[in-house]
Amino acid sequence: MSGTEAGWRKAWRIIPWPTSLGARTLLTLLLGLALVQAAGLTIHALDRIGLQHEAELRNIGMRAMGIYRSVVATSVAERPAALKELDPGPGAIVSLADAPPLEPTELTPQGLAGIIRANMTLVPVRPINRPRDIILRGQPWDGSVTIGYRFPDTGWLILNMPVPPPRPWHSPTFLLAFVLMTVAAAGLSFWAVRRLTGPVATLAAAAERLGRDVNAAPLPEDGPDEVARAAVAFNTMASRIRRFVQDRTFLLSAIGHDLRTPITRLKLRAEFIDDDELRDKFLADLDELDAMVAATLAFGRDTADAEPAVALDLGSLLRTVLDEAGDARPEAAERLVFEGVEHFTFHGRSLALKRAFTNLVSNAVKYGGSAHVRLAPPADGMINITVEDDGPGVPPDQLERVFDPFYRIEDSRNRETGGTGLGLPIARNIFRAHGGDVTLGNRAEGGVRATVTLPA
Ligand SMILES: Nc1ncnc2c1ncn2[C@@H]1O[C@H](COP(=O)(O)OP(=O)(O)OP(=O)(O)O)[C@@H](O)[C@H]1O
Ligand SMILES: [Mg+2]
Repeated sequence: MSGTEAGWRKAWRIIPWPTSLGARTLLTLLLGLALVQAAGLTIHALDRIGLQHEAELRNIGMRAMGIYRSVVATSVAERPAALKELDPGPGAIVSLADAPPLEPTELTPQGLAGIIRANMTLVPVRPINRPRDIILRGQPWDGSVTIGYRFPDTGWLILNMPVPPPRPWHSPTFLLAFVLMTVAAAGLSFWAVRRLTGPVATLAAAAERLGRDVNAAPLPEDGPDEVARAAVAFNTMASRIRRFVQDRTFLLSAIGHDLRTPITRLKLRAEFIDDDELRDKFLADLDELDAMVAATLAFGRDTADAEPAVALDLGSLLRTVLDEAGDARPEAAERLVFEGVEHFTFHGRSLALKRAFTNLVSNAVKYGGSAHVRLAPPADGMINITVEDDGPGVPPDQLERVFDPFYRIEDSRNRETGGTGLGLPIARNIFRAHGGDVTLGNRAEGGVRATVTLPA
């Protein structure tokens, strides 16, 4: 890239070029309109200047000849006196001379001279009084033209006639029409841009809605052809995604459901094992299997998203979660703390959100022995909720892996804290379905901090 090109690119970036498609299109259209109008105005102005000059020259030609006619009728001696009595009009200077003060090279170009001469013939002069010679000098845009008439007897009459400056804009109808035209074109551009870019915004909003909720209402399939086609394509895609999610959920539920019968049968049969120790281990394994199947079924239910979204108070919801955790584990009740914003209205699925937060709080209690929940005030369109504990924390390389279904850290694989490893993936699923997310981190003071973000 050459130096100047880089310079241009830099300059281009400094210009506050709008980022939205609508604003860009509108700006381009308005710039184009301004350009076209400027060109139109220039052509109009040049045209009018030409016309006005021509009219002025015509006028000057007749006036000059009129003055000449009245002067030539007097005798040579009376001419200076006659000149004094004459009214040549504002700004005009009339004088007598013995010789022409003009060089032939200074003659006015043919076209303008033609106009002046042609108009002189409109003023009748007796043949013997006709000028023996006429010379012209000057251009209309110089501000004045000089005309010299050679008297048939002797001497010259020199007239210096002012040409008033042209006023190309001096037409109220033109100005009004021009303003009306500009306003109408700008208004139409604005309207067209709104119409054109509207569907893009609608499509973006629909895609975002679909990301949160596969059951979101379909787009209306009307409007201009291209828009309708895009809406149809989008709706087809949405319904395929919906069917895919439904199929997966159905499969998951079917497997979970069908596994239950053989597990129950196995449990019954295990009762017949004579070796006590072996039987107990067998039954414990089967219980674990059962719990996993139950959790799998719940996981399937959560993704099905049957619950409608409502306006709920996030502060109250979090306090309820903590209260219930305290009821379940009275020994940890006093280490369950809530702080931050008391009430915050959020639009979401109440039961699902409660399950998600319960999973986080129960992890904090189960692995960390405490839970410190904080609801921060909204910032940048997002709201932050943190759940902290004072436990051993999670090895840094497993902070993401714990969100994999059925993934559990080896140490916690004991009977006492036994879970299925679905708590975190379920929670993440739910938060993501609300347009948010959850991540885990280790606190400097020790223990885990689960950070939930939700759109405020
Ligand atoms: N606050 C925490 N402190 C330490 N380890 C944690 C914490 N939260 C989660 N973990 C680790 O992450 C693993 C996965 O957590 P997750 O909640 O998904 O499953 P779980 O608690 O084992 O089972 P479930 O929640 O389904 O009953 C846990 O087994 C545990 O090892
Ligand atoms: Mg858990």
